[in-house]
Amino acid sequence: MEKIMVIGAAGQIGSELVSELRKIYGNGNVWATDIKTPSADIAESGPFQVLDVMDDKQLIHFVIRHKITQIYHLAAVLSGNAEKLPLQAWRINMDSLMNILEVARMVEDVKKVFWPSSIAVFGPTTPRTNTPQLTVMEPITVYGISKLAGERWCDYYYNKYGVDVRSVRYPGLISYKTEAGGGTTDYAVEIYYEAIQKGRYESFLKAGTTLPMLFMPDAIKAAIDLMEADRSKLTIHSSYNLGGFSTKPEDIAGEIKKHIPNFNISYDPDFRQQIAESWPQSVDDTIARMDWGYECTYDLTKMTEIMLSEIRKK
Ligand code: SER
Repeated sequence: MEKIMVIGAAGQIGSELVSELRKIYGNGNVWATDIKTPSADIAESGPFQVLDVMDDKQLIHFVIRHKITQIYHLAAVLSGNAEKLPLQAWRINMDSLMNILEVARMVEDVKKVFWPSSIAVFGPTTPRTNTPQLTVMEPITVYGISKLAGERWCDYYYNKYGVDVRSVRYPGLISYKTEAGGGTTDYAVEIYYEAIQKGRYESFLKAGTTLPMLFMPDAIKAAIDLMEADRSKLTIHSSYNLGGFSTKPEDIAGEIKKHIPNFNISYDPDFRQQIAESWPQSVDDTIARMDWGYECTYDLTKMTEIMLSEIRKK
């Protein structure tokens, strides 16, 4: 029987992933862990433990004691926040991953690890449209450097120790349940909240800034499908490119206007503009589609309807 642990369960991805995993594997078999307390539905629908992934001793004790078989490690400092405290972000992003890889190497019960990488591994010298799986990678952010180094470590642990670590390079993730924090693609979440609350939004990215995005249900399904895929079918052990749909601030504003005709967008770009311009506009995810059947099912129109109606309910 699987015993699953989610690290970063209070976060944007974690809070939705825990609910999905509990539906599949049973509430009692999915441990939510975080340094902060998650929402009541996560903390009360199954087991929750306050756990700091930076504390390697606490981590290994927890994994052994609860006979954990799968780890989803989602805790990270995102791109915008990482630029404010580069060394601290580097340590958090790298040391936490190394702790997880070491636990997976040492504890026999642990069969699989999921760790998200990002389009941030690419940089200004990477081809920006239909970015290939294998290409030039010169990230200019601490976040991107930590994700690229992390990918290399995942591949290394797979080749050297046989650790089964699985990863995707997520595009910007859009969700209504838990807000993101400190990312470059977060404008695409904030815009929906402010459309409802204020009827206007000031974007920190310029008009015309195209980035690939993915709606959270597709992102969660991708993680679980990849973890459930037959190991022999997987050909990438660093991290799989994932596409999604490409969009820019005025496209989202246009979709919102269909529901809120008076909605108004203005632009006041900050330091995240340069980060956004160094990332791909679209990504080639042919290998993920071929190896484990990845697909993106939500487009901007469908997603916008759901975002607005769910945020209104809140
Ligand atoms: N969405 C993330 C960020 O903007 C990228 O992985 O930091």
